[in-house]
Amino acid sequence: MKTISLQTIKRLAMELKIYPAAALRKCAPPLRQVTGAELSRLNGMLELMYEQQGVGLAGPQVGWNVRVLTMDVEGKKEGERIFINPAILETEGVDMAEEGCLSLPGLKAVVARAGRVVVAAYTVRGERVELEAEGLAARAWQHEIDHLNGVLFIDKLSGPAGLALRRRLKSLRDGPEAGSKAPRAEEW
Ligand code: NI
Repeated sequence: MKTISLQTIKRLAMELKIYPAAALRKCAPPLRQVTGAELSRLNGMLELMYEQQGVGLAGPQVGWNVRVLTMDVEGKKEGERIFINPAILETEGVDMAEEGCLSLPGLKAVVARAGRVVVAAYTVRGERVELEAEGLAARAWQHEIDHLNGVLFIDKLSGPAGLALRRRLKSLRDGPEAGSKAPRAEEW
């Protein structure tokens, strides 16, 4: 007999919000305290992120309108992976690379981001940490913090790339074509 943990039940109740869900467009307020309920929800987000093969997941993406995110760029499942009330303290340089989003399945586009960031956030234990990130990790931080402000990577595109993507967004809003399966790898 297969047993299901309470955490799994909570995780299953957690639904990934897909564009154009209104939850993705809200500016989230800070999380003020972490009790058992919040911790369970945060761990559920982490589980959902791995299940969806994402490198990051922000609260609004599961309909939780607070400034929290989970992140594991290297997929090592170790170290600090839950961040509360994150803020970007410093940015440097410009990096162009393709990115995607779990809430925009199947869409990818080259987005300009800072190449290096310094961020501050709180851990689930209430400790303030400062982290420096470059490349993919820096991109993930900027992408996830955007989510906390109701911003999606599609908002950052212009020119032909933006136009092509907007056409595909329309099909996402109107429903996917029958039988189409979106690739999920390396999306956040
Ligand atoms: Ni995303």
